Amino acid sequence: MGNIVEEHLGIERRALLNILFIGDVVGEGGCSFLEKNLNAVKKHYSADAVIVNAENSAVGNGVTPHSANRVLDSGADALTLGNHGLKRREIYDFLDNEFNPIVRPANYHPAAPGRGYMILDKGSVRIGIINIMGIVGMENIRNPFDIIDEIIDEIKAEGCKTIIVDFHAEATAEKKAMGFYLDGRVTALIGTHTHIPTADEQILAGGTGYITDAGMTGPMDSCLGVKKELAIEKMKTLLPVRFENPDTDCSMQGVLITADSEGKCTTIERIEVR
Ligand SMILES: [Fe+2]
Ligand SMILES: [Fe+2]
Repeated sequence: MGNIVEEHLGIERRALLNILFIGDVVGEGGCSFLEKNLNAVKKHYSADAVIVNAENSAVGNGVTPHSANRVLDSGADALTLGNHGLKRREIYDFLDNEFNPIVRPANYHPAAPGRGYMILDKGSVRIGIINIMGIVGMENIRNPFDIIDEIIDEIKAEGCKTIIVDFHAEATAEKKAMGFYLDGRVTALIGTHTHIPTADEQILAGGTGYITDAGMTGPMDSCLGVKKELAIEKMKTLLPVRFENPDTDCSMQGVLITADSEGKCTTIERIEVR
């Protein structure tokens, strides 16, 4: 009945897609919080797809096959990474296996294991997922602005209109500039890496959803997931300090994006689960 009325009124019926993006998962606390809560959160928001940044999911930092599988088994459809993604060599074969839904920053050297983008096939919809990394205050890798055009063209050539970019970067200005650079060409650009959610979620003029940082999933009474005493010691002495995660209450932070059938963002909303 609804369809008939809409057709009669000349209203174009547009299917909306709900995509949940979860910020950097930190260690044991972050993984077990996801295991307990992600499925309920997916249901609550009627999420069609869940993308999770897993660069810090392993105990001791980085990502391992064990921690990646824990995040996937919690309900994630695809994983993105960042500057800690290649720290553990045991993840390399996992990254090279094209059946594993995981991407690492696309601007690493071609010799790096894994791939920088993938297309997540959810049956009725396909979602292009790109992971790139900033170079301001980060490792000196390829300029993300120089490589992103080609990747977007390759995904669009596959007929995929919905594209989510995880831009893993330190500098807010670099993230903002990338948001404007990609406006109208991708569904959303979501910043990660600083582990602190920013209050600037918005839809840019061309229809791209944007947030400078999605936040993290891990122990809240901490310095970005690290025991605060250890973070202070590191800041004060500037000597090497072995970081550990505290066993304190966790929170899950991220964004919910709604996209139309043309891949334009229609809403972007910050979420937090404690
Ligand atoms: Fe991180
Ligand atoms: Fe990072």
